[in-house]
Formats: sequence, C-alpha cells, structure tokens
Amino acid sequence: MKTSEIRQKFLSFFESKGHQVVPSSSLVPGNDPTLLFTNSGMVQFKDVFTGKETRPYSRATSAQRCVRAGGKHNDLENVGYTARHHTFFEMLGNFSFGDYFKRDAIHHAWELLTTVYELPAEKLWVTVYHEDDEAYDIWSKEIGVPAERIVRIGDNKGARYASDNFWQMADTGPCGPCSEIFYDHGPEVWGGPPGSPEEDGDRYIEIWNLVFMQFERDAQGNMPRLPKPCVDTGMGLERIAAVLQHVHSNYEIDLFQALIKAAARETGATDLNNNSLKVIADHIRACSFLIVDGVIPSNEGRGYVLRRIIRRALRHGHKLGQSGVFFHRLVADLVKEMGAAYPELAAQQARVEQVLKQEEERFSETLEHGMKILDAALAGVPENGVLDGQTLFTLYDTYGFPVDLTADICRERNVQVDLDGFETAMNHQREQARAAGKFKAAEGLSYSGVATRFEGYERLQAQGKVTALYVDGTSVDAIAAGQDAIVVLDATPFYAESGGQVGDTGVLRSGAARFQVQDTQKIQSAVFGHHGRMVEGGLKVGDAVDAQVDIAQRARTVRNHSATHLMHKALRQVLGGHVQQRGSLVDADKTRFDFAHDAPMTPEQIAEVERIVNAEVLSNHATQARLMSYDEAVQGGAVALFGEKYGDEVRVLDIGFSRELCGGTHVARTGDIGLFKIVSEGGVAAGVRRVEAITGDNALAWVQQTNGTLLRAAGLLRAQPAELVDRIALLQTQMKQLERDLDQAKSKLAASAGNDLAGQAIALDGGAKLLVANLAGVDPKALRGMVDQLKDKLKSAVVLLAAVADDKISLVSGVTSDLTSKVKAGELVGMVAAQVGGKGGGRPDMAMGGGTDVAALAGATAGVEAWVRERLA
Ligand code: ALA
Repeated sequence: MKTSEIRQKFLSFFESKGHQVVPSSSLVPGNDPTLLFTNSGMVQFKDVFTGKETRPYSRATSAQRCVRAGGKHNDLENVGYTARHHTFFEMLGNFSFGDYFKRDAIHHAWELLTTVYELPAEKLWVTVYHEDDEAYDIWSKEIGVPAERIVRIGDNKGARYASDNFWQMADTGPCGPCSEIFYDHGPEVWGGPPGSPEEDGDRYIEIWNLVFMQFERDAQGNMPRLPKPCVDTGMGLERIAAVLQHVHSNYEIDLFQALIKAAARETGATDLNNNSLKVIADHIRACSFLIVDGVIPSNEGRGYVLRRIIRRALRHGHKLGQSGVFFHRLVADLVKEMGAAYPELAAQQARVEQVLKQEEERFSETLEHGMKILDAALAGVPENGVLDGQTLFTLYDTYGFPVDLTADICRERNVQVDLDGFETAMNHQREQARAAGKFKAAEGLSYSGVATRFEGYERLQAQGKVTALYVDGTSVDAIAAGQDAIVVLDATPFYAESGGQVGDTGVLRSGAARFQVQDTQKIQSAVFGHHGRMVEGGLKVGDAVDAQVDIAQRARTVRNHSATHLMHKALRQVLGGHVQQRGSLVDADKTRFDFAHDAPMTPEQIAEVERIVNAEVLSNHATQARLMSYDEAVQGGAVALFGEKYGDEVRVLDIGFSRELCGGTHVARTGDIGLFKIVSEGGVAAGVRRVEAITGDNALAWVQQTNGTLLRAAGLLRAQPAELVDRIALLQTQMKQLERDLDQAKSKLAASAGNDLAGQAIALDGGAKLLVANLAGVDPKALRGMVDQLKDKLKSAVVLLAAVADDKISLVSGVTSDLTSKVKAGELVGMVAAQVGGKGGGRPDMAMGGGTDVAALAGATAGVEAWVRERLA
C-alpha cells in the first residue's frame, strides 16, 4: 500500500465514523508561545480540549505535518542513526472533544488496524499507564488481547506522571495517560517488548498512541481536570507505512526511497544505504515545509532551528563529496512525492528553492574552511576523547557551525563535545559585549542607583524619587528652569521605548516645579530616563516627584499597539501562516507593521483584514496579560537556541483572538481601540511588506478628512458623492471624444494648410518647384504628412517646412524622386539644421532635423533657394 493510500484510508475510515476531516495546520503554531513547532496532531485542537474554543464538531481526524526539532520533543540528533526518527513527519490522528472516550478510541483503532490495514492481531502489542485499569480491561476483555501482550508502564521517567505512557504536548497544556500499540517486526530483528530492557531495539515498534486527555497542566505543575475527558491519538504515517510495506526502516518506504535516490543523484553517492542520504532525505522535508510555513533561516528562534537543519544536511552532502550547492534541487523531487497531499508546498516550490539556495551559498563559503579547522582539532583528540569548548565556540562563532552540527561530526568519530566549555566561551563573549555596551553607556551616563520600578501597566500617575539627573551626558545634582535634561526615577508610570512601542510623554511635578517629558528611553535595561526640559522651578536628586503620563497620547499609542496584535493575527488568517513580523513601530499616530509576504495585498485582502480586526473590536473582549517563566512557557528547545534574548519571565498577552509574547501596554477591552483602518500598504524589501494603520480618534479624523475631500469633489461636479464615480467616468469618455475630435480638426487644418502652401511654391528651372515655409503654430508631428502631400501636389519639387514649438525647431524636407540625384533632402535638412544649432538627416527623398536657435531660423531658410538652384544648375 502506497503512503498516500494509507493516509487516505485513515481519514476515510474516521470520516465514516462521524469525524470531520480537518486539514493539517501550519508547522508554526498559531497563537501558542509555549510551542516552537507543531509537534503532533492535537496542537491545532489544544484550546478545544481545554474548552476555551468550540467547534461545530466533536469528532475530528487529520493528517498533520509535524516537526520535532527543538522544544520538548526533539529528534534532530537521532536522525540518520535510527530506523524511524525524523525531524519532519506526518501524524495521522483522530480526536474526540468530550464525545467518546477510552472504549471507542480503542475499538476504532483496533478495527482500523486489523480490518482496513489487515494487520494480523497476533503481531500487535499494547501498553497502558500502570494505573489505568479501565483501558487494561477494554483491551483484555473486549478486544481480547492476551495478557502477555498487554504491558503496564509506570512512571519510568523519575517523577509522578513522568512516563512513556503519560503524554503531554509541552510543560503546560492538556495531558493524560495513554495507551500505545506496538507492532512486532518478528524475531529476525533484534529488540524486546515495551518495558523490557531491550525495548530500544527495532523489533517492537510503537505505531499508534492513544491519549486519554483528562488534565491541563499549568506552569506551577497543578493538574486540574479538563471540562470533559477527550481523546487525542497519533500514528506516525512513516512508521505504519513501513509496517504495511513490509520493511523495517521508515527510510525504506516508497516516499523516502524516491527522496534518497534524488539525494544520491545530487551528491553522486552510489551506496543507497548511506546514512547521510537518509539525513538529507529527512531534512529536505523539514526544511521545505518550514519555509512553506513562513520560517526563514536566521540566528534566533525558529529560524535558527531551520538554519541548523539546513546546515546539517549540507554537511552530510559535503561528507558524500558534494561541496557545491545541491540541496535546493531536491525540492522538485519532494513536490513530486508530497505536492498532491500538500498543495501549499507545490504552490511555493520556487520560493522554497530560492530560500534554500541562498542559505546554501552562504554556508558553503565557510563549511569547507570550518571542516579543515575541525579536522585539525580532531587530529589531536583520541578516540572517546573530548573536543574542547573553545573550538566548538570558534566553529560556531566564526564558521557558522551550529553546535549540534559539530557534535554530529564528533559522534561519527567517537568523540564527545565539551558543551560546558562551549557555554563558558559563549558567556565570556557575552560578558565582553556587555562590558563594551556598559562602557559606551558609561561614557555618557554612568548610573549605579536602584533600578526603575515600572508602574505604567496599572496606572498613568505615580510617585517617584529622583535617583539621578543628567545634563549633556554628565551627571548633576540639580537642574534649573530652562535646562534640557534626563531624569531617572526609582518608580515611574512612563513606558520606556521598547518592543516597537515609543516612550511616553508627560510631566514630572515637584511642588511648583515642572519638568516636561518629551520621551522616555531606557539608559540601562531596567533604568528609565525621562528626557525633556525643566520648564518651571528646579529639581534635585532625592526630590519626590509626581509623575503624570500624557493620558491622551498614551491612549492613542495603546490603541495602536493592541490593534497591531489583532492585525498580525488577521494578516495570518487572510494571507497565510507564512506571515511573520519583521518589524514594527507603534506610536500615538499609527502602527507600522512589516511582515514577510511575497506579493502586494489586494484591496479585497486589505478590506478583509479590516473587517476581521473591527469584528474583534466590536466583540469588546477583555484583554489579559499573564506573566510566566520563559523556561516554563517555551521549554527546553528554546534554551538550546544560542543567542536568543529573553528575560527569565515573559508576558503573554491575550487580546481578542490573538496571543503574543509582549511587554507593551494595551487596552483593557478590544472595544477601546475604536475604528481600525489600514491607510497604506507597500513593499519595503524583497519579500517584506509594510502596512500602516490607524485607530480611535485618528481613524475618525481620517474618515472625516477623506469624506471632506469626497464632498468637495462632488461639489465641483455638482453631484452627490455616490454619483461621483459614474460622473468621472462620463467626463473621461467625453474627454477622449474631444481629444479625437481635436486630432481630426488638426489634420484637416494641416491638409488645407497644405493646399494653401502649394500656391506659395516658386518655380525653378526645368519646371521644378521649391517651397520653403515656416509654419508657426503647426504641430511638428503634422509636418511629415504635409511634406508628403506637397510632394504629390507639386509633382517635381524640393520642399522644406519648419515649425517652432516650445522653443524647439522641427525641420522636414522632401524631394521628389526626379530631383534626388541632384538635391538630397538629408543634405538640405543638415545644411539648415547646422545654422540653427542642431542636426538633421535622412533619406534623399525625405529627411528630418531640428534645432534650437529660433532667431537664426529666418536667415537659414532664406539661403535655401540659392542652395537648391546651385545644385539643380
Ligand atoms: N499527541 C499524541 C502523540 O503525539 C497522540 O503521541
């Protein structure tokens, strides 16, 4: 059975059992800061399990694209070394949202495996969580699995609920005990049943995990029950395909064989069993789909995971002898295998290729060199020895070798890596950078007082004490009226610029003294400087002040900031999951938002984003900010992302349907935003668009102003605004008609002018005629036609016409063919043009030229008769 058929049969089976078939969601989880990548089928249903979201169905089934590279579930290191680890894989699943529970989940699974996929029952083993007698009894009494093939698995990972048979998506979120189904590949393969010491062998392979979702773990480790028990199952498509195609390794299934052959073609490898080919085949899937879902290689977050996977693939290509770019050429092969099931992949093939190629070109410059450094270093390390942290760091910092890439190479040579030493070298560099930063700050503002306590989330007015004052970069004890200064307070409601939101303005008062704050900027990460002018009285260090933020300015800024979150989410809904923030600026006037997207937005897309955001505004949801530890929130994988900058604690903002990590200030309810309106959209760089939008009173002012313009325009046409478009269209039609009429009139005029002109010709010897005329006010474009007409009319003639328009002289000359042996039109025009500061030329019978010396024109044309007579004589 081909992989595509297995996928289809799964979905159809559950559809026949009343499940809604739901498409795979993006690899970048929408609205979930706790998760790096979608790592299983349940991710898109997470809020449905917890009851936060409802759907029109209570049973669903999907084939979900997943990445497990970074985060709680990370398989990157194992790819290529085992028969069934992948960075990217597809998970088939069925889900019950408070509908059926353990009994149906188990019965459905058994029916699919034994009747649809026709697996022999005696090859199947199951596990249950050790306390789960209910599941045990269903397997044993209802399904009839013999006791020797049902294994109870305890908390085998060292803590309560830390078990292979207790599943959780991340450190927080829905979770519950599970029951796993294993397939026995037979005694010729080494390995033991689950729970046995040999369980890591390849004989007994887990093919399906049935999770009985019952709890929601919070950041404190509490596990309240879900509103209703749910079911979440996951079957790795590649694993079940291996079973159904009678092979022992996922890499032997049809889909992987095609990719492995393609990788061999591109690298010149001849042994199709080479592990590096498997790595490349695996990685092209992960990389391509990550790029499809909007991830771009970078030095932090998801982008860095992508970069690591790409570089790992390139290194394995290098190992096979391919040192040039090759990886992007596999995208076409992948599209052939998976493009039908994932149209979004096929649609973006060219873009994926381009992103990969760029990253390949970038890394190939340093790969070769880095490999030499590493080889030299490894030459001095004995087998089972340790590669020092400094070398790891140099490779990382100078040659762009992610640590896991170096570790991967070391593993092949039985060498360990000194990760602690790497961290030390990394920290040392950070310290140096920090010291350099501090020194710079110290040049201007040295500060050793207490940090500023920010109170501006809760209030706009607060009491603070002056802890430092600076004038022209120098610390002073006091400032007086008229001085520009920076005031540092121990506590303030003023927001200091960060995360795209500008600093607050307002006033600091102490008795009668008044300091006008024009901007607030951090002078150190937790020390806020109020920049402005002492307008009345003075201030000294130690003074108590009453700090009042400009309420109207802050309110405008806050509306724009909250609207930005809603717009970000709406853009993803309308344009796709690849939309990612590239930069933002939020101030009192507007929000300016840059994001990754390839094409200009259509007016319909803009209108749709506006509609979605305004619908959220009208729903008037309360917004919510929660603090949680970053480690708890985002988990292990992010910690491994070197160079990522996050505080220990992160603030998670829920605004309407959006959820983002954000330290900014926001509205209390979405309704506070007022009208949301996009006012411009354009490109700022390749693949990056910029949208500007306004809210609240700014949006009202914009509407009024736009309406005013409309009314004035309508007034000019004495029309109603609604009639304006038709009226303008009518005017345009009329104008076109008038232009046509005018052209016709002009050519008629020219024709009659031609008739008149013919009469002005003078007779030369032998019956030939000469006509020289300066036609003021004639369109130069008409001259040529007139010359032709005159030649016809005069039969045997030399004609030279001149016209002046906008201080430019146009000259056209024609000579009838009987005379061209003696008089050449090109020479004639050239002769005249030379006298008026220009040039001319052309054929003997027709030539054109021009000039600019209008004053010399009369003299030049006056000489034509003598010139012509001379030639004819
Ligand atoms: N979510 C479960 C898993 O990933 C089914 O194993």
